[in-house]
Amino acid sequence: MIVPGSTSQTLAARLADDLGEPLAPVEYDQFPDGEVYVRVGDQPDNRAIVVASTTSPTAHLEVLLLQDALREAGVSEIVTVIPYMGYARQDTVFEAGEPVSARAVARAISTTTDRVLTVTPHEKAVCDFFDPAATALDGAAVLDDTLPSDLADPVFVAPDEGAISLAETVRDQYGAGDVDYFEKERHSGDEVTLTPASISVSDRAVVVVDDIVATGSTMSGAIEVLTEHGADATYVATVHGLLVGNAITKLRQAGIDGLFSTDTIEGPTVAASVAPLIADSL
Ligand code: R5P
Repeated sequence: MIVPGSTSQTLAARLADDLGEPLAPVEYDQFPDGEVYVRVGDQPDNRAIVVASTTSPTAHLEVLLLQDALREAGVSEIVTVIPYMGYARQDTVFEAGEPVSARAVARAISTTTDRVLTVTPHEKAVCDFFDPAATALDGAAVLDDTLPSDLADPVFVAPDEGAISLAETVRDQYGAGDVDYFEKERHSGDEVTLTPASISVSDRAVVVVDDIVATGSTMSGAIEVLTEHGADATYVATVHGLLVGNAITKLRQAGIDGLFSTDTIEGPTVAASVAPLIADSL
């Protein structure tokens, strides 16, 4: 049985279709004091697969409550699929006094699950915070599905060296093109400078690939630099389209030709599904 969190209802339904498993009706609500309420409407089978991106504190709590409801109902195997893992970027103590937030949320989830799958965490090492360790799936492997099939002499660019393997994956799946990366320096939460890629982008289609677009600062900076360097068309392909605040407007103003993401986070930019990747791993 597939048990959706409120944040991942579309992906959970696709997964249920792909696996031929029933989709549990789940009720989501809040008590008058704001506390989170969930109820799984059908009697679960022996195995239940919770599918929920933890994009908010409520979503985090829903996962814990769903897992508990399933164990309470006697489910012997709980698999927790976290398509987008919130707090994953807080994977170390950046300043004294801070928690390792990724570890804290992973520990909480680990208490009531038998297996965890996640998709393209910012750093794979966060998988080790789960017990047993989570499996990370490569969401970039479906991003080529989002792109126009006739890109002109394409270049796949990562906003920093750490994301180059994502750009390589998309290029390899697309079947043509060069790969490059920008030197990125982040000055504050939403202020980033990028030093141009070394490959010429003049008159070429450029696809910037990253694990996550959050405020859109990294990507809008990249698009502006690419346009200054004569790119013919600019696209952004990201696994997680978090798109907080005015990210979409920022990218539009930067002159982007297309913004595509997977369904790890529901929203207007979803153009490919990670359901087949998840299904293959279950
Ligand atoms: C950071 O290293 C990530 O890979 C992304 O580049 C970053 O999280 C994007 O954030 P934003 O959209 O706020 O610039």
